[in-house]
Amino acid sequence: MSHPAAPPVSLTRHLLEAQRAGQVSADLRLLIEVVARACKQISIAVGKGALGGVLGDAGTGNVQGEAQKKLDVLSNEILLEANAWGGHLAGLASEEMDHSQPIPDVYPRGNYLLLFDPLDGSSNIDVNVSVGTIFSVLRCPDGVTEPRDEHFLQPGTAQVAAGYCVYGPSTMLVLTIGHGTHAFTLDREVGSFMLTRRDIRIPEETREFAVNMSNQRFWEPPMQRYVADLLAGAEGPRGKDFNMRWVASMVADVHRILTRGGIFSYPLDAKCAAKGGRLRLMYEANPMALLVEQAGGAASTGRQRLLEVPPTQLHQRVPVFLGSRREVEAAVRYHLEHDAAQPQPQVA
Ligand code: AHG
Ligand code: MN
Ligand code: MN
Repeated sequence: MSHPAAPPVSLTRHLLEAQRAGQVSADLRLLIEVVARACKQISIAVGKGALGGVLGDAGTGNVQGEAQKKLDVLSNEILLEANAWGGHLAGLASEEMDHSQPIPDVYPRGNYLLLFDPLDGSSNIDVNVSVGTIFSVLRCPDGVTEPRDEHFLQPGTAQVAAGYCVYGPSTMLVLTIGHGTHAFTLDREVGSFMLTRRDIRIPEETREFAVNMSNQRFWEPPMQRYVADLLAGAEGPRGKDFNMRWVASMVADVHRILTRGGIFSYPLDAKCAAKGGRLRLMYEANPMALLVEQAGGAASTGRQRLLEVPPTQLHQRVPVFLGSRREVEAAVRYHLEHDAAQPQPQVA
């Protein structure tokens, strides 16, 4: 006997049902819908490519000392404008802005704080490879009406929602509100994100890793040893062959891992050691860590659960290992064993 197909579920319906189940407030639901709408606008701009005049450098730099692409600046503006007037936010912070911004006085202020990497993987824009937007939502601390940078400095465990939108062959929004990780595909004709993968589960074991191998000689000894053992394959201590993938857009690499497993790593290296790492804690590592944990995976700095890192600066950087749980645990073991073998400092 054939069963009628289940009706398609839009992002709007999914969030409304989550609200009825007490999993999300009306304000947070609206905030996520607004972010999703901004992502649709960014998706359109990314999709136009050279025809939209959006490729190439903006000729400016951001607070991190990185050259901004036109699409970095445009995506930032789209997200700022979309989120200014809704009444559900108290403030915003972005990779592309030196400091956080309170919502302008002309609009009502709400109870949430939004952080974003407006365009992740911007080195891939000009070569027509997937890029994305990453976002994280925190609560504005009680009694704070004009949030400043310090009010955003909450650990990843405090996130009430996190997600990314990947602009690939299809545009997909991957979201968590702390009740699993779910994926929505943009129906370009209708203009709606439609639920296409409910409750993503990352396989615990993997044979695939993602790392920028050109940094090998700059890594710490435990990372050198970990990857050497991966490369040794079936004949080495890990006893199996590994494959490697590196898109150089964190969003695309994490999306692959949420789809079929793997480990993604941007470890500490001698080039970024003074900054603490390459990727940013508040709007890259933390939202991805929550999505991955909610999908049954793990996320670590190599020595500590990522979501528990106490933030000290808005643009703070951290080493990142995330993905299939057992493989992340293996990478952490290499780091902890190395640290335990170090001579203890002599106490006078
Ligand atoms: P962004 O474009 O927001 O600055 O982030 C780029 C990040 C991340 O997406 C990616 O994993 C990494 O930088 C790429 O680094 P490499 O240049 O070392 O490949
Ligand atoms: Mn980024
Ligand atoms: Mn970026």
